[in-house]
Amino acid sequence: MAYAWDRLPVPRKLSDFERKWSRRYDPHCFSGVWRFHDLLPFVPVERCVTVGEGQTLLHLADGVGRYVGINPGGLFLQYEGMNPSGSFKDNGMSAAFSHARSVGAERAACASTGNTSASLALYCSVTRLMKAVIFVGSGKIAYGKLSQALDYGALTVQISGDFDDAMARVKEVSKELGIYLVNSVNPFRLEGQKTIMFRVLEALRWEVPDWIVVPGGNLGNSSAFGKAFFELKQLGLIDRVPRLAIINAAGANTLYELVEKQGLSWKQGDPDGAAVCRYYDEMDAGQRRASTIASAIEINRPVNFNKCIRAIEVMDGVVREVTDQQILDAKAQVGAGGLGCEPASAASVAGAKKLVSEGVIGADERVVCILTGHQLKDPTATVAYHTTDQELFNKVLGSRGVHRAAFANRAVAVSNDLDEIIKAIQLYS
Ligand code: F0G
Repeated sequence: MAYAWDRLPVPRKLSDFERKWSRRYDPHCFSGVWRFHDLLPFVPVERCVTVGEGQTLLHLADGVGRYVGINPGGLFLQYEGMNPSGSFKDNGMSAAFSHARSVGAERAACASTGNTSASLALYCSVTRLMKAVIFVGSGKIAYGKLSQALDYGALTVQISGDFDDAMARVKEVSKELGIYLVNSVNPFRLEGQKTIMFRVLEALRWEVPDWIVVPGGNLGNSSAFGKAFFELKQLGLIDRVPRLAIINAAGANTLYELVEKQGLSWKQGDPDGAAVCRYYDEMDAGQRRASTIASAIEINRPVNFNKCIRAIEVMDGVVREVTDQQILDAKAQVGAGGLGCEPASAASVAGAKKLVSEGVIGADERVVCILTGHQLKDPTATVAYHTTDQELFNKVLGSRGVHRAAFANRAVAVSNDLDEIIKAIQLYS
């Protein structure tokens, strides 16, 4: 989506946006998405829908930085789990929702690994402006997320299959029934997700960091981030663009395979589409399906693949894969030294650690890892990591190649006896 910037009132410098904060009694200035409306002006601001999204935090996390190998003062965590539905999805949902309403839609649908559906369900339930229809793969969605969709009253359709199957079906169904589709194939979603980068810059007092590190699933975020920086540079609002690192789970690594192994690139808008088709054909022939504890990014065919490789070009990006073991160890570090996150989010921290160990990211660089989802989204993975119950550990994690929990904080079992309880506390504290 391109704007005719020369005919629009674009701020002369990024700090002009700070004036909006002084008017935070106005919901569109309070919103961490719509206070940047000048940079996503596809619907007049007074018609934009907000539920208070984007009140997020860029947190300097030296403890996690030490784990990653970054010098004190250099590692930041961008907590998108602080959004109303507990994930970054609300940034894009407020934008897609606003567009949907502007074209008079009454129903909206999405396929989801859980967070998009929670977000859509929340916007529908809070605003009462549309009805939500969500498609999820059966058994493929963490309980925290499923509970949200059910609680917010969305029509929840469980497809026997995975995210890719649900995605294919929701496209057919929304076309057939004329339902507005809010998956990140929808370009307005990406417009909203650009604001994650604007808030990172805002928190750094408009200084550009060296690296943005983000988990890669359907590749909406990475595409949106590339577009955000492309436009800021084009408008002369920044003088340089940070580098981008996109982190796949090793069990869902389409982007890593195609970009890093096969060397696929944007090529001025003419990427090798045949190579992508070949890759998917081989995947289907070998019956290879994505499988990772980071269920949010358990995706075979990322819908924003082309936009993402363009972002990689704009931001001189790299792609890495990390194992479920690395993801859960990184997640435990984030939990112990910050506000916590769900497994997919921790891929960014695990990926940053890998890139530092390879020497691609320098210890003295300024790095922002995007924590995409709240700690409470997937309690099963967290409890299984910290548990003393070997059976539970094996059932949830052993089958995924996770064999140790180096940073586990195990509960101490004590009989209901005052002396025993006091003894245990003295022993362990
Ligand atoms: N992290 C979390 C917590 C997610 O929920 C998702 C995607 C991603 C990362 C990947 O982001 O798609 O922009 O590359 N979740 C989608 C969903 C697929 O249905 O909720 P991406």
